[in-house]
Amino acid sequence: MKECVLVTGGAGYIGSHTTVELIAAGYDVVIVDNLSNSEFKAVEGVRTITGVDIPFEQVDCGDKEALGRVFDRYKFNSIIHFAASKAVGESVEKPLLYYRNNLGSLINVLELMRDKGVRNLVFSSSCTVYGQPEVLPVTEQTPRQPATSPYGNTKQISEDIIRDTVAAYPALYGIALRYFNPIGAHPSALIGELPKGVPGNLVPYMTQTAAGLRECLSVFGDDYNTPDGSAIRDYIDITDLARAHVVAVDRMVQGKSKSHYEFFNVGTGRGVSVLELIAAFERATGVKVNHRIVGRRAGDIEKIWADTTFANQELGWKAQRKLEDTLASAWAWEKKLRGIQ
Ligand code: NAD
Ligand code: WQD
Repeated sequence: MKECVLVTGGAGYIGSHTTVELIAAGYDVVIVDNLSNSEFKAVEGVRTITGVDIPFEQVDCGDKEALGRVFDRYKFNSIIHFAASKAVGESVEKPLLYYRNNLGSLINVLELMRDKGVRNLVFSSSCTVYGQPEVLPVTEQTPRQPATSPYGNTKQISEDIIRDTVAAYPALYGIALRYFNPIGAHPSALIGELPKGVPGNLVPYMTQTAAGLRECLSVFGDDYNTPDGSAIRDYIDITDLARAHVVAVDRMVQGKSKSHYEFFNVGTGRGVSVLELIAAFERATGVKVNHRIVGRRAGDIEKIWADTTFANQELGWKAQRKLEDTLASAWAWEKKLRGIQ
């Protein structure tokens, strides 16, 4: 019998791509999502790509009774918990919403795992837990720094909650994946990132500018201590990131975890500046991106990229897709959304 994985937040950007890779790897999937930041058409896209009528439950993970009914209805031994609110700026304005949604949902998931005998949890963490590291690239041993936003704080607290919970209940295992900057879309262009309103992240803003929806991309700062002055990040392809989840689930299902709680950097190991990314996009697509340099964005860090040695060796996972291909996939998705030929 196939192993089944519960994917919370499975209608979202990373959850939808991960569901595709789980199905390709031979898992069954059940999706839970309250569609607070996604649309059902993402589930339809995943069903089209996979040819599988993946069960979808419109449930809020904050509603423990409803979530418990999902645990009763399906038989699964692993959960990938994506469901969370993720806008850094909004979290500063509405901290309680972020603490309630992100921590309340996780606690419900863990309590249900404990009470209903579900063993494995993969959790969406973030490189935001490292803040601005003193030494680059960051390894998993790089100390976390005090969070600079309620959102970032929910990721740190969530990691701690999982660590403490699996220590107290030895039937449970957890893996936190610390994502760097996920970008791009599925090669089919049937699923991709669906930001609501004006995008805050660089790549959706760039593709919307290229599509003519936005007049000009603002480059936030060219006076950083980097080779071209613009800030540096580690942009990880969404399908590569999705595969890392499959590998993490495999590891737990096959009993290969080395401790009850593990955490891994999921990046490429390569730092790319904002200006380099724009140039790579233009090369990959042949489309010019109207942009101008403006002042730094409050709260931004200067540079970060991952040391992926540990993930490469321990998980046997490595980012593969070329940056240009990833950017071309983001553009193909944007064109499809806007009906551009
Ligand atoms: P997303 O908003 O596209 O996906 C999250 C999904 O969870 C959405 O479909 C939303 O409707 C759903 N959701 C939110 N709260 C819910 C709840 N209480 N119950 C049920 N469903 C709920 O975001 P994403 O980019 O796919 O991010 C997925 C996870 O990865 C999040 O935990 C996010 O914090 C984390 N993460 C994202 C990034 C990034 O840059 N995208 C980086 C690091 C970590
Ligand atoms: C990337 C670079 C900007 C927009 C955020 C969260 C982080 C994580 C990933 C969840 C930066 C620059 C951006 C624009 C620009 N999410 N930029 N013009 O800030 O690295 O990380 O998403 O965990 O927690 O903080 O990603 O895509 O917003 O920015 O110049 O219009 O692009 O200054 O250098 P960021 P981003």
